[in-house]
Amino acid sequence: MTNVHVMARYRTTIPMIVQIEGLVQDVPGWTPIDELYSLYTIASVTDNLAGDIVEVGSWCGRSAVVLGLAARNGGVSKVHCVDLFPEKNDWRQNPDGSYSFELIIDGKRYVGYQVQTVWKDAFESQTGKIYERYNGVLDCFTETVVGRGMQDVIVAHRGDLESFLTAVGPYFRCRLAFLDGDHGYDAVCNDIRLIDQYLVPGGWLCFDDAFTSYEGVNRALRELILQNPEYDFCQQMTRKLFVARKKAAARGEKS
Ligand SMILES: C[S@@+](CC[C@H](N)C(=O)[O-])C[C@H]1O[C@@H](n2cnc3c(N)ncnc32)[C@H](O)[C@@H]1O
Repeated sequence: MTNVHVMARYRTTIPMIVQIEGLVQDVPGWTPIDELYSLYTIASVTDNLAGDIVEVGSWCGRSAVVLGLAARNGGVSKVHCVDLFPEKNDWRQNPDGSYSFELIIDGKRYVGYQVQTVWKDAFESQTGKIYERYNGVLDCFTETVVGRGMQDVIVAHRGDLESFLTAVGPYFRCRLAFLDGDHGYDAVCNDIRLIDQYLVPGGWLCFDDAFTSYEGVNRALRELILQNPEYDFCQQMTRKLFVARKKAAARGEKS
């Protein structure tokens, strides 16, 4: 790809927010347009950093394709989409009516939404509806990505963040991570601690459902990000998107 081609992509008068609306209009999910626009913008300003983009929690690909658009316009990096991608029979209803899932990938057992469970109404009106059309969430995700011609930029990993990082190895580098997986306190802390070791200086962490009713997310962000001097810019961007930038010369950086 030549610089001329890269520049040509930026020569458009179609507002980016309109492009994003078009890109995600048929993709099931919860991430609102203002949040997707903010994610796109932050992903774009990390173009000058080394490393790839990681998303934990992709569901049907709504936020993934927006990150994919930013990565493609930047010209070099990939978006790794890490999700357990549960299938219909992996879900079980809890005694209080809410839902959780449990599944096995390559002989390893994973659980999802054990502490912060999926509320009954949300499961029955939205989450579970996916399985009327697809056997598994990965089928829907793949349709979203391939339908938008983004399979060269977006790579799916079926597993959790730990299994992804094991698979990519110690030299992996991340310039932006969007954390939108399990919203329980321990799960969010675990994801932050894991990805922090791979985040390049000046890289960004972005969180969905921050400082809303998800107390586990809020507590994890207060303890591990807001009180952490290694993050020098912390900002609530939209109603539920919170972002934090790692100091450019953070200690413990892996270069
Ligand atoms: C709220 S959805 C993600 C929504 C998506 N970002 C969007 O824009 O539509 C949360 C996702 O996290 C996944 N998930 C739950 N626990 C997980 C875990 N421990 N590791 C990876 N993914 C997980 C679920 O399978 C689900 O697809």
